[in-house]
Amino acid sequence: MKRVLSVMGILAAVAIGVGCTQAPAGEITVYKTSTCGCCKSWIQHLRANGFAVSAHDVQNLDQIARQNGVSPQLRSCHTARIGNYVIEGHVPAQDIKRMLAEKPSVTGLAVPGMPQSAPGMDLPGKEPYNVYAFKADGSTAVYARY
Ligand code: CU
Ligand code: CU
Repeated sequence: MKRVLSVMGILAAVAIGVGCTQAPAGEITVYKTSTCGCCKSWIQHLRANGFAVSAHDVQNLDQIARQNGVSPQLRSCHTARIGNYVIEGHVPAQDIKRMLAEKPSVTGLAVPGMPQSAPGMDLPGKEPYNVYAFKADGSTAVYARY
């Protein structure tokens, strides 16, 4: 715990040094297509929850997803990386934070498709959806239910 606190202290000092008031919840790199509006909304959701986001418009999203171990049935509109984890689709920020804290041995988290109630979609009406943790062998487990 002491070590964690001192690392946080260093991060805070660095953040103050560059004029920020708070260390980010994490640095996340998002790959999306230039025309994806809901991707932008999801990025706003991440930023609102303290993540530092760098977004990249790409044309080979399928390839990026495949390279990151995202199987076709888990696919959504964007693929992201945070640390050694992969995030596919409209995963809520709180689940990403939980994963970073719990450090499960998985490839990452995915919300397949684009459920209308997921952050960044935010369409009226309630569509239940699951967040899945997935592994390199293709196995999945429910990580959160909404
Ligand atoms: Cu989307
Ligand atoms: Cu997207």
